[in-house]
Amino acid sequence: MILIKLGGSIITNKERPLAPNKTLIRNISIHLKKVKEPMIIIHGGGSFGHYWSVKYDMHTKPDRYNSKGVSLVKNSMVELNSIILKSFVESGLNPYCVPPSDFMIGDKPIKRKVKEIPKIAHSGLIPISYGDVMWYGKNKFYILSGDKIMGILSKILKPRLAIFATNVDGVYSDMKTRKLVSEFRSEKPITTKVSMDVTGGMTRKIQEARVISKNGIEVFFVNGKFPNRIVNAINGRGFEGTIFRR
Ligand code: IPE
Repeated sequence: MILIKLGGSIITNKERPLAPNKTLIRNISIHLKKVKEPMIIIHGGGSFGHYWSVKYDMHTKPDRYNSKGVSLVKNSMVELNSIILKSFVESGLNPYCVPPSDFMIGDKPIKRKVKEIPKIAHSGLIPISYGDVMWYGKNKFYILSGDKIMGILSKILKPRLAIFATNVDGVYSDMKTRKLVSEFRSEKPITTKVSMDVTGGMTRKIQEARVISKNGIEVFFVNGKFPNRIVNAINGRGFEGTIFRR
């Protein structure tokens, strides 16, 4: 079983609010049709959820955020999710939406619920979850990122591999020359110089990837703009990207 995170930067156009990248979503779904192994997909928020969460100053820390903001983030994620579901169905896949509120209470996963998700994947459907705004309790909400969901599911489900598809080729040691770091070992401290993006999005992803790979799961970072790289990573052929290993 494989876990795949489709980053918001590939499924949406981050430059424009509420702009799905329908061509790439379609292209990814066509490529995923070639995968014969059971898989679980998680997608990010991009110009949908992120757009509203920034506008209403909402974060991963539980707090009493503006109710309109909570509502708009949630609605936009449902909207983006249904665009993806529709595209998958049109490509002949059978997606099955699993919002994170199905398997989490507050910020804690419900193990028994999480363990049901791969059963859905083995039945021939593709469970699809997404980063979301979550009810925390005591009138508080928080933003749960798709990257975090990858960590939570990996820990409980121990997939064969976890793939993060983003809009870059992997982790660069140098942004200017675009030199890729081909491998990280989680037991070793990071000695290679790593170029970080301005928002720190890549820093968080690397941290999450290292935690996942410490559990013995291989983590791949690939450029989702070339969906064949996702398929190659799964089939172990001509891999292009960054690998995290224990
Ligand atoms: C988005 O999840 C969560 C919301 C803002 C609702 P991610 O943080 O995983 O999204 P991307 O992939 O970085 O866009």
